[in-house]
Amino acid sequence: MLTLAIIKPDAVSANNIGKIVAHLEGEGFRIREAQLVRLTKERAESFYEVHRERPFFQPLVSFMTSGPALALALERDDAVTHLRKVIGATDPAQAEAGTIRRLYAESKERNAIHASDSPENAAREVAFFFPSRR
Ligand code: CMP
Repeated sequence: MLTLAIIKPDAVSANNIGKIVAHLEGEGFRIREAQLVRLTKERAESFYEVHRERPFFQPLVSFMTSGPALALALERDDAVTHLRKVIGATDPAQAEAGTIRRLYAESKERNAIHASDSPENAAREVAFFFPSRR
């Protein structure tokens, strides 16, 4: 089973790609696809369209387009659920010790990593970055 992770611009600019990828590999994920991307405003709005009406939508799009991000298609048993557990809560202050967001995120907005939240969204989000995996 595949899921999508995005190492966000804050973590890329802080030189944390290597540590985060090592953490993911240590949790048994295999990297099936990887691409460093600079999202356009249109692509970021499309990716986060479910959040369009939320107050944090424009700041989120602006942050996600602020620099390169690393999109990863990750494979593991129970990939969606396990990745959500490994990244921790959206707000790093609420995230459990040892989770990626607790270790590397700066704030609820600049929170280091995205992970698909359901198998349906994982399929959509993997295909969004890696159309050949459709
Ligand atoms: P992510 O998992 O990428 O999905 C939506 C993102 O919106 C979330 O991570 C946060 O980075 C961002 N966000 C910013 N503010 C909020 C908020 N108040 N509640 C939820 N998500 C937020």
